[in-house]
Amino acid sequence: MSNYHIKHLEEYYQVYRKSVRNPDLFWEEVAEEHFLWRKKWDKVLSWDFKKPEIKWFEGAKLNITENCIDRHLTTRANKTAILFEPNNPNEPALHITYKELHERVCKFANVLKSKGIGKGDRVCIYLPMIPELAVSVLACARIGAIHSVVFAGFSATALSTRINDCDAKMVITSDGSYRGDKSIDLKCIVDDALKSCPGVHSVLVVNRTSSEIQMKDGRDFWLQPLLDKADAHCEIEIMDAEDPLFILYTSGSTGMPKGMMHTTAGYMVYTAYTFKNVFQYKENDVYWCTADIGWITGHSYIVYGPLANGATSVMFEGVPSYPDFGRFWEIVEKHKVNQFYTAPTAIRALAKQGVGFVEKHDLSSLKVLGTVGEPINEEAWHWYNDNVGKKKSPIVDTWWQTETGGIMITPIPFATPTKPTYATLPFIGIQPALLDEQGNEITGNQVDGRLCIKFPWPSIARTIWGNHQRYKDTYFSAFENMYFTGDGALRDEVGYYRITGRVDDVIIVSGHNLGTAPIEDAVNEHPAVAESAIVGFPHDVKGFALYGYVTLKETGESRDQDNLRKEINQVITEHIGPIAKLDKIQFTSGLPKTRSGKIMRRILRKIACKETDNLGDTSTLLNPEVVQEIMDNAL
Ligand code: PRX
Repeated sequence: MSNYHIKHLEEYYQVYRKSVRNPDLFWEEVAEEHFLWRKKWDKVLSWDFKKPEIKWFEGAKLNITENCIDRHLTTRANKTAILFEPNNPNEPALHITYKELHERVCKFANVLKSKGIGKGDRVCIYLPMIPELAVSVLACARIGAIHSVVFAGFSATALSTRINDCDAKMVITSDGSYRGDKSIDLKCIVDDALKSCPGVHSVLVVNRTSSEIQMKDGRDFWLQPLLDKADAHCEIEIMDAEDPLFILYTSGSTGMPKGMMHTTAGYMVYTAYTFKNVFQYKENDVYWCTADIGWITGHSYIVYGPLANGATSVMFEGVPSYPDFGRFWEIVEKHKVNQFYTAPTAIRALAKQGVGFVEKHDLSSLKVLGTVGEPINEEAWHWYNDNVGKKKSPIVDTWWQTETGGIMITPIPFATPTKPTYATLPFIGIQPALLDEQGNEITGNQVDGRLCIKFPWPSIARTIWGNHQRYKDTYFSAFENMYFTGDGALRDEVGYYRITGRVDDVIIVSGHNLGTAPIEDAVNEHPAVAESAIVGFPHDVKGFALYGYVTLKETGESRDQDNLRKEINQVITEHIGPIAKLDKIQFTSGLPKTRSGKIMRRILRKIACKETDNLGDTSTLLNPEVVQEIMDNAL
């Protein structure tokens, strides 16, 4: 029996039992057999959820790019590593082989070094989905620099916050980006952001759109001429297992975005192992994950997991609706994609267009379908299963988080029988628990509670960059000796898990995590706004959309409310990005508050969701009369 590749349900149960009975031995075997180490570990695992401190493969030495690239050069040099599909369908796709990837990464790494970047330095990457994004990530890893990729849809303010939080010395960007029929001037956004980032010494600029941009002398450099001069050989930096690999920001329910820090060896082992099993990847398969590398899904399952397995990973620059809603299926047909991994929001948007676009294309290459990022509703699940998978490609509904680094609860295709809307069983090594509000573990089946994880797994984030206390408070303080996910879940009669959604003030809009507090802060920046509260409400494509309750400084004002709504959304776009725009804005004379002055979001949420039959007791509020007013004017 191979621990590395699980093919049957019994095998899953056997390997699962082994992984929880003796995690050290189990992960040691996986690590030993399938990766290249410059030195083996002294200790497989040490952990303490109280501190919290978690270390995997301590003492080991390695470089993740040697595992993702160099070791494939003997057997897979001419195999496509990255298959780039441009935004414009008339532009040819680019097949970057492992050999070419090696050369590109080495050259890029030498450019980084020539600009003074070395081990431990932070590099912020703000690029569209073009090959240079994957290459720059790997180039950082090759020399031990810590990459912090910021999704290129974030605004200048959001970008500068993230650059300053981790003290990045360098930014890698492009002149512009293509998205459908639009192009966006990324470099202008970077210029704006850098006005408040004194620590950034250099900016490397990829030419993608050939648009007119400003280049600041001594700070900004076009990448290509530097690459042309760079040596195609670059020795790896030998890293410790627990050296940081990257920082990736995710929203919390309060305050600043959290810079989740992932380290090297455990992350590599877990993303590679999950990739192999969750997608049942076979040597000549073509795998496509539609996420952006700006999110964790792209880090783990476009770049590191697939490349560690010597896979062919598709990178798509565009959007599902351009030039029409058949684009995804056209790409599947064109590249004979075998595994396809996307988000429920994309499935719902495509389902809305009818099956015509799907039926136009030959999707017979597909073997496994994946979904991630938010709960998938039953209707979308069936649409995906019937029309895309033709009922023969199992759907892996994969639950995980930026913080978990890799997939945590998921079916193993062809082994685990799937069930619509259920992420099903814990992956190998993962020990979930459901807790009640008092902190007691709820045992047995057919129960629901707060989803926690009892035992560390190799790719858990080790800290929040620069704020270990916040890491402890957010994940390890709600329940003793448990990692708290922030999600609610139920467990059915056979032990399958269904994720029911966030139990905190994080709202998942189109699969993107949005904390309400930073959006409220942005809204409150508008000069006419006194106060605001933001909640989520169900939306047929986005899963959830944002509903803002706003009180103005001067009531009874004669201002044009529609104009004000536009201005408020403009402020949000400037502070965070268009993904955080509010779908509905209701102006109200006040917000319901407790006697201690806390906004009662529970009531506001119910009104936004049109669940006003049972609002609960409102008599203890400071201002109960406002509830009726809000209900009467609800949108
Ligand atoms: O609420 C869960 C939801 O997305 C959250 C994590 O978001 P993020 O860190 O951006 O990572 C997304 C990609 C891994 C979770 O706390 N979520 C993720 N996957 C699922 C999900 N909810 C239900 N079902 C899923 N498959």
